[in-house]
Amino acid sequence: MEILIDERTIAAQIKRSAAALSERYSGAPLLFVSVLKGAFIFMADYIRNVDIPCEAAFMAVSSYGDSTESSGDVKIRLDIDRDISQYHVVILEDITDTGRTLAKVVDMLRDRHPLSLEVISLLDKPGRRVNDFVPDEALFTIPDLFVVGYGLDYAEKFRNLPYIAVLTAQ
Ligand code: IMP
Ligand code: MG
Repeated sequence: MEILIDERTIAAQIKRSAAALSERYSGAPLLFVSVLKGAFIFMADYIRNVDIPCEAAFMAVSSYGDSTESSGDVKIRLDIDRDISQYHVVILEDITDTGRTLAKVVDMLRDRHPLSLEVISLLDKPGRRVNDFVPDEALFTIPDLFVVGYGLDYAEKFRNLPYIAVLTAQ
């Protein structure tokens, strides 16, 4: 296990991004949406750095494919618990890999006409993209490596690591 991004570096980027966001959405009804389970730690740390009123909601999706790559068939397993049409929605995602999950989630949420919609992805692996999806903001762009920790798993393990690491051997 090799550390790719340490705790302090993650915390500093989140602080910077959340401070900028707090200025951008000042006075607006703001709802953070994260896609379980991978983004739960990112969501928890991110919103604690936001200093304007905001709300949080979760959704869970599943996509059938092998354990390290999503398929195009993304289904909602847990939906957001409210009408988003009165909110500026910010999706917080752990990683944009092929882009299939976010392309689908963004499509589904846009159909519900939020006041605005943007995607902030903790990590971005642009080298793996199979479509033209680009997050509005990515805190770190990484090479095509399978990473774990800080919410990200390999076969449900390693979500508890406080840093992002590259899985070298299982
Ligand atoms: P996408 O649909 O291929 O963009 O991938 C979306 C999901 O695949 C992410 O939300 C992660 O849960 C998972 N994923 C993609 N790459 C990695 C990785 O390097 N480590 C752990 N999970 C990953
Ligand atoms: Mg996962």
